[in-house]
This record gives sequence, structure tokens and C-alpha cells, in this order.
Amino acid sequence: MTRTFLQAAARLDLIPLWFTPFFSTGGVSVPKRAAILRKLAPYRVRPDLPLVFQLIGHDARSLAATAAGFGEYGVNGINLNFACPSKTVTASGNGAYLLRSPETVFDLTRAAVEAVPEGVSVSVKLRAGWDLPDRIREIVRAVCDAGADWIVFHYRTAAEAYRPVDASERVRRIACAVEAAGSVPVFGNGDIVSSADAESLVRSTGCAGVAVGRGFLSDPWLVRRILSGDENPASEEEKHTFLRLLLAGTDSTKRGRNWFLECVKMTYGADSTEFKEARESAWDALRTRWS
Ligand SMILES: Cc1cc2nc3c(=O)[nH]c(=O)nc-3n(C[C@H](O)[C@H](O)[C@H](O)COP(=O)(O)O)c2cc1C
Repeated sequence: MTRTFLQAAARLDLIPLWFTPFFSTGGVSVPKRAAILRKLAPYRVRPDLPLVFQLIGHDARSLAATAAGFGEYGVNGINLNFACPSKTVTASGNGAYLLRSPETVFDLTRAAVEAVPEGVSVSVKLRAGWDLPDRIREIVRAVCDAGADWIVFHYRTAAEAYRPVDASERVRRIACAVEAAGSVPVFGNGDIVSSADAESLVRSTGCAGVAVGRGFLSDPWLVRRILSGDENPASEEEKHTFLRLLLAGTDSTKRGRNWFLECVKMTYGADSTEFKEARESAWDALRTRWS
């Protein structure tokens, strides 16, 4: 469903680039070409958008061999995930687990930088640390010294998962990453839900821009709001088109219907006639209404 959501957003020009979910290089093996091509298929709906393909792994040779193959896939960059806090991921030594060792982060980034074909950038996704945010400078320097082109920095540590952290601490950590990165652009990430948020984060930390996750999934116009400064950037026609595209990719199950209703709510608001009508309609009526 997230894929349908992203494809609809891309078709309506609501995102400036593709940034894929992580793809595991799977321990020490090198992923098969067919598996990577399968992962890339959904992004072909807008082949003109820059595409950053995210990799996760902990073996420098496997990451390098994977990165080396990216000349033929038509991607603009690869992004190395040193940020995922999920237990399944960290238990196998991947994602944010690697933040425990800035030296390893350096080695992995370096291996990718040396392996990628000309014209493919290498960026990284970081959190502020594993259990404490006390090595931000070291971690950021490691990826910059290894040759990373840019950084997405989620301000929480892995141990903080998605728990609330004081707003001033968010600023402190991102500003520290920006300062340590020097001329390497840092995109601040975490809890951005409005253009005012984004603007204030850029102003208070000096970050080059922002990256949004959950805020975008609950407001597909968020990136456009941030880039244009317009708080109401969606026409009625566009909202309708967005919902029509979502509905076309939604299966006729209870889960599919509930998801679609959530999307109507998010597009028009919980008090809107559109949402109230949609909630009371049967599937067939919904399909007729939005097709
Ligand atoms: C369900 C879920 C899946 C995620 N998958 C990825 C991923 O594959 N790669 C990644 O870099 N970040 C992933 N993230 C983290 C987000 O990109 C982002 O860093 C984090 O949610 C904080 O930003 P936000 O508050 O804007 O959501 C995921 C987050 C969630 C909630």
C-alpha cells in the first residue's frame, strides 16, 4: 500500500526524488541482479525522477560488490543505512548497530565510495548514536572522511527508537552533525510535519534541508508545502486524482478499504463531507465515486 501511495505521489509531482526503503545485501553474499531489478520496478512509473537506492549491510566486500553493479541500473546514488533501530536488523549487526563503531562505519562507507561507478553518489543515513548521543561528531566525521556526498541525520539514538526527545535536544544534535560535517550537506530528519517545522529546523541548525518520513505518509502534500511555502497547495482536482490512483491500487479487502478511508480522511479531513460519505459507502459506491 505504501508503494501505491508513493507511486500516486510521484505521478502528481509531490516528491522531488525517489529514496527507496533499504535493500539488504544479505550478510556476505552479493544480491542477484534480478532481485535488484525487481526492487527497482515500482520506481519506473517516474523514471525521470532522481533515484537513490538504499542498501543495508555490514560486510565491506559485499557492499562494495553490490555498489559496483549500480552503473547499469540507472540510479543516481546509493544510500547506506546506519540508522535502522529494528531488533531484527540490529541483531544481525546491521543498521544502527554499526554506530557502535565509527571505524566500521568509515570502512563500509569507504568501500562503497571506492566501488561505485562514476556518476553514482554515495550518501548515508545516520542516527545520533547507538545508546547515547555522545559520538555524533566522530560518526559524522567518519562518513565525511570516507567520502560520503551527503547525510540524512535522524536526531534520535537507536535506543530512543521513536520516543519523544526534547525539541532543544533535537536542535543541538542536528547542529552538532552539521558542524562536524563541514561542507558535506546534512539533511535533518525526525518529526517534521509542517513547512514551519522544516523552516525552523533549517534556521536553527544550519542543515542543508530536511528529509521527511511519517509526516509525508500522513500528508502527501507535505514536501510540496515545504518547498513552495504554500499551506494549501492541492487543488480539488488533484485530491480527486490522488484518491483515484490510490483506489486503483487498493485490494477489495477490509484492510484495503480501511486504508483507503484513512487516505480520504487525510486528504479532506475527519470532519469533511467526503470522509463522512466515504465511511458510509459500500465498496462499489466508493469505486464509482472516486473512479
Ligand atoms: C515503518 C517505517 C519504515 C522505515 N523504513 C526505513 C528505511 O527503509 N530506510 C530508512 O532510511 N529509514 C526508514 N525509516 C525511518 C524514516 O526514514 C525516518 O528516519 C524516521 O521515521 C524519522 O523521521 P520521521 O519522523 O519524518 O518519520 C522507516 C520508518 C518507519 C516508521
